[in-house]
Amino acid sequence: MTDGLVIPELDAGPFLLRPFRAGDLPLLAEAAADPYIPVISSVPVPYSEADGLAFVQRQHDRAREGVGYSLAIVDRAEDRAVGQIGLWVTELAEGRAATGYWIAPSGRGRGAAGHALAAVARFALTDLAIPRVHLHVEPWNTASVRTAERAGFRREGLLRSWMELGGTRRDMLLFARLAADEPSPAAP
Ligand SMILES: CC(C)(COP(=O)(O)OP(=O)(O)OC[C@H]1O[C@@H](n2cnc3c(N)ncnc32)[C@H](O)[C@@H]1OP(=O)(O)O)[C@@H](O)C(=O)NCCC(=O)NCCS
Repeated sequence: MTDGLVIPELDAGPFLLRPFRAGDLPLLAEAAADPYIPVISSVPVPYSEADGLAFVQRQHDRAREGVGYSLAIVDRAEDRAVGQIGLWVTELAEGRAATGYWIAPSGRGRGAAGHALAAVARFALTDLAIPRVHLHVEPWNTASVRTAERAGFRREGLLRSWMELGGTRRDMLLFARLAADEPSPAAP
């Protein structure tokens, strides 16, 4: 029996990362109407308020079950959730974790995912001392490639026909950021 993971609050500059709550349902309704977000996430389609609440509950369940941390990305200026980022730790025994993110259309264009990804990478590599965090991005997804690069992730290669999404086999670019690449803390 485990007590599970505690979802943190993380500073991401103009954004705050925090656990999901019922007040985030407008974000989920918007995300459900996006053509790609439901393909890469468990955002429910068709959307209903009950499905939205179940999504919020699932994010907390994943921490309780030790699967990982699912965080809402909140725009501090507007005090509203604009997206989601996850840190999945089921391969922790091998010294690696996976991440992924989405931003609803109305929150895009301000680098929210890049700020969130940099904050989650710091949390994973420094606070949790995980050696490696990786991320899969479809090759056409320039906005996500830019996000990964801005957050200090390095492109490692193309995984051909890596997985099925939305009924189609997809190639994936593999990106990673390593604890070994982090600048060492200044000597006292
Ligand atoms: C990928 C995503 C999270 C980025 O959202 P965001 O943080 O608002 O990103 P921004 O719009 O601020 O753009 C980030 C960078 O990509 C660039 N960019 C954005 N859209 C682009 C496009 N269509 N073509 C080329 N470049 C683009 C921006 O110019 C910016 O570049 P910069 O860092 O050099 O300034 C968002 O588009 C999204 O949620 N898409 C659907 C879900 C998804 O793809 N998730 C990632 C799966 S790996």
